[in-house]
Amino acid sequence: MKRSTINAILRAADAFIRERGFYLPPFASWMPEEWRTRGPECAEIVENGLGWDVTDFGTDDFAHTGLTLFTLRNGNPRNPARKPYAEKLLIVEDGQITPFHFHWRKTEDIINRGGGVLAVQLYASTPDEQLDEAQTIDVSLDGVRCTVAAGSIVRLRPGESITIPPRLYHAFWGEGERVLVGEVSSLNDDAADNRFLQPIGRFPIIDEDEPPLYLLCTDYKRFYAAFDERLRNLDHPS
Ligand SMILES: [Fe+2]
Repeated sequence: MKRSTINAILRAADAFIRERGFYLPPFASWMPEEWRTRGPECAEIVENGLGWDVTDFGTDDFAHTGLTLFTLRNGNPRNPARKPYAEKLLIVEDGQITPFHFHWRKTEDIINRGGGVLAVQLYASTPDEQLDEAQTIDVSLDGVRCTVAAGSIVRLRPGESITIPPRLYHAFWGEGERVLVGEVSSLNDDAADNRFLQPIGRFPIIDEDEPPLYLLCTDYKRFYAAFDERLRNLDHPS
């Protein structure tokens, strides 16, 4: 993805989040120059993978397959007992798909926080981690249990949510208009806990055609002076 495209996505996401009456923590708007002056006191942001995350899942077609995320809080997979929970905001465009994936460990609630409708398609997984085309699925929708057929599409209207347990395949997209989505979950580990049905690139390769507006969580290693070798050796700072 071009950095100029990512910057435009971040500007639009920032405006949309404010429009919906949600406010992000201070580090959401730290400029790259500010990151250069920050010290070890900010290690939690970097180590736990907090902040902006824009991805086209390696498709080069962000409008149709992509997602904008902001991780507000998360624990550290290397010390899960200390903070075993996470919270994210997701901005999902009308018709923009996050492809089928499941998590081996994470349980997540996906919440429509306002805007359009969020469509979530569900399949159980087989032991060899493919879609189970036959198995019905028991889900909890805002505390109400229900059973749906394999491949069902659950539509969440503003205020509604679904609990996604481990190993349940889910794909989602917006319908009607852009959707502000919340995610409340157990610990998030993007480096080791995402099983995508089709091989994809979770983080984009960036063409640096202009300076970053705000840093993505994958940019910290370039701009954060206190980023040490221990972190540098991680696949991804989460
Ligand atoms: Fe997920």
